[in-house]
Amino acid sequence: MCGIVGYIGPRQAAGLLLEGLRRMEYRGYDSAGIAVVNGHGLEITKAAGKVTMLELELEGKMPTGTLGIGHTRWATHGAPTTPNAHPHTDQSGRIAVIHNGIIENSSAIRKTLERRGHTFKSETDTEVLAHLVGEYYSGDLEEAVAAALREVDGAYGLAIISADEPGVLVAARKGSPLLVGVGENEWFVASDASPLLQYTRSVVYLDDGEMVVLSRDGYRVRNLETTRISKPVNQIEWDLAMVERNGYPHFMLKEICEQPESLHNTLRGHLLEEEGTARVTGLNLSDDQLKQVERIVITACGTSWHSALIGEYMLEEMARIPVEVEYASEFRYRNPVVDHRTLVIGISQSGETADTLAAIREAKRRGARTVGLVNVVGSTIAREVDGGIYLHAGPEVGVASTKAFTSQVAALALVTLRIARLRNLSILQGREFIQGLRLLPAQIARILERSSELEHLAERFLGTATNALYLGRGVNFPVALEGALKLKEISYIHAEGYPAAEMKHGPIALIDENMPVVFIAPKDAVHSKIVSNIEEVKARGGKVIALINEGDTEIERLADATFTIPVTLDLLTPILTSIPLQLLSYYVAVARGCNVDQPRNLAKSVTVE
Ligand code: AGP
Repeated sequence: MCGIVGYIGPRQAAGLLLEGLRRMEYRGYDSAGIAVVNGHGLEITKAAGKVTMLELELEGKMPTGTLGIGHTRWATHGAPTTPNAHPHTDQSGRIAVIHNGIIENSSAIRKTLERRGHTFKSETDTEVLAHLVGEYYSGDLEEAVAAALREVDGAYGLAIISADEPGVLVAARKGSPLLVGVGENEWFVASDASPLLQYTRSVVYLDDGEMVVLSRDGYRVRNLETTRISKPVNQIEWDLAMVERNGYPHFMLKEICEQPESLHNTLRGHLLEEEGTARVTGLNLSDDQLKQVERIVITACGTSWHSALIGEYMLEEMARIPVEVEYASEFRYRNPVVDHRTLVIGISQSGETADTLAAIREAKRRGARTVGLVNVVGSTIAREVDGGIYLHAGPEVGVASTKAFTSQVAALALVTLRIARLRNLSILQGREFIQGLRLLPAQIARILERSSELEHLAERFLGTATNALYLGRGVNFPVALEGALKLKEISYIHAEGYPAAEMKHGPIALIDENMPVVFIAPKDAVHSKIVSNIEEVKARGGKVIALINEGDTEIERLADATFTIPVTLDLLTPILTSIPLQLLSYYVAVARGCNVDQPRNLAKSVTVE
């Protein structure tokens, strides 16, 4: 997704903007640019490709000025070329705009402006917005922006400066996240906290429809109707070190290795051993309200959708409540059967995924109670649901989601435990479940200590593969899906996850000696069935890698390679079985020289449809 950063204060803006763009690279982008007001005009530099290309453009000619905006663009309208990179200017060339989102009526506005003699240099909707602001500009940038935004439909997070107002930066949001950084006599706007943390942890979250006017002595939040709105200043709990790599070669490996701590942080404060239940007051649902829930819908995208599937197994098994898991992009358009008796759970690491946000809004519109399981504090989904649980997994920068996934499963376990204990789960069963949860961080640490075994397996089986199959049963079927997604999204090897029993209904035709098959095969209720599935694959020459519990000699004898995981409760095995699959995909991607943290075509948070 696009990244926005803006600055006004005593420092030189250009270097600060470039540093900010570098800290947002993980969001995924294909061009970048900055604009600085230098006292007599606007200096704009932009380049297709990575921020390093922009830095090359700026070599020896860094603009001077203490007001500026910077942007990393993930192309939606128009190819990732230099002319399409942001910032874009108005007809006069004295107003610069950067924008994250889509202006849906930009072509109609463009035609109107062309009839008035405007000429455009790019194919982007953002340039149309810049020209519209210019059209309204008569010496007051704030009012020109407000007038223009009253005319546009669609989503935006934007920042605007003018050569004629060197003391003003105007920003606005509708559908794309934007926050204000409050420093010591300096102010910032950004798409997320990462560019701000080295300067300030005091932030103001803008809501949809709001604007902010930054000047050299402060900031003022408003909307299109009223010129002043009071907003709280929040303290970000993350510090810079948490966002940086801290010596790891990739953010993804850092975040995989953080899972003992991130899982502990997700569970912290929620486990009530005495009562054998979980404290989930953040849901803002009383026990009576939870008892009245007749059905649960869990909606999410990607990896978060996989954790939702695990939640379905947990809730139906322990709480005996019907659960449906819906792709958010489907749920929002299919006229879902949802009402006040439905609890809708939205799962999102970023809290900004457009489809998941829209699905939650649709659920609310139909009268459902909505809760969010979200990692980013203050994100849009977190602020729009009726209640929720923060994952507290810390910033997840790598595009491939890892620690957020295991924390999402842990958060679902907490919700399950609370509801189950209100229904038919005994206090002893509740305490046993809590004990299982408490052991997980240490068990994850034991798996991480043996990462080198997975590096070896990666080279031996998957380094040259062009396809792979991941198979699991029961609550580990979603783990098969997640393992396959990890492999394909960072190593670009085509991989599919399947219920192991489904092989004989078609996919087994794919099996030959070139097809590595990864089985997730803990000693659970369906272990003997998985053994048969492994034999079916071996009989056709397939290469089998199996994740097994310590001491499983039966599969050890059958498989070409195994990796053992500690024993835990059946329903908690996904938190352990997913870790080796994260590492396997990581080592394959590294072996193939792929860009692990910023895989091609992908963004960390998909804030557009
Ligand atoms: C997972 O590795 C991907 N990065 C992607 O599928 C991601 O899970 C999905 O886009 C949902 O993101 P969210 O959790 O921030 O809503």
